[in-house]
Amino acid sequence: MQIKQLKQKYEQFIRDFCSQLLAIHIDRLERKWISISLMVIGLLVGIIIFDAFLHGVNPPSKVETIDSVSLHLNKEFAEDNLGVQVDEKGGIIVRMVAGRYSFFPKHIDVPAETKLTFRWVSMDVLHGVHIPMTNMSTMIVPGYVAEITTSFPKPGEYPVLCNEYCGLGHNHMWSNISVIAKEDWTVPVKLPVKGGSKHE
Ligand code: CUA
Repeated sequence: MQIKQLKQKYEQFIRDFCSQLLAIHIDRLERKWISISLMVIGLLVGIIIFDAFLHGVNPPSKVETIDSVSLHLNKEFAEDNLGVQVDEKGGIIVRMVAGRYSFFPKHIDVPAETKLTFRWVSMDVLHGVHIPMTNMSTMIVPGYVAEITTSFPKPGEYPVLCNEYCGLGHNHMWSNISVIAKEDWTVPVKLPVKGGSKHE
């Protein structure tokens, strides 16, 4: 069988490669420097991994698609569903839509020192979102959901800025988030959907 032959060839190649590698004479000093550089690489990779877990950084490969044109018909990002919500497990999820030239809802209240999961989508073109003093800085690409987990260290007013050029009104595209002390924050009550029509 062809696959069997390939496997044998591959194994032979690995064996030869390893034996050749072991046969190479490496100077003591050289060996020392190789280990030092490997240790430095290991340390740097370790710091990146540790930091990614600590600050909830997602790799850019995490892809979640959505149809930007029909956001208003989409269950998750329908108008009544935007803003702050608490899921079954008690986690706080904030859904926001970016569009020329604002973030919707215009204003939200969130608790300080609490883990918040933001889910951003764009209804038109490429936008960005940046909240100073937090890890919130991402592109909002039409057709994709940008999810970021963050927490606000202190109560106060935080600006939300668009940091990708999106048109003539780009400079004016910003809104703000009120961060309230944890003990003063209450779960927002969702008003019953008006109009009575189904959204699907
Ligand atoms: Cu939106 Cu710049």
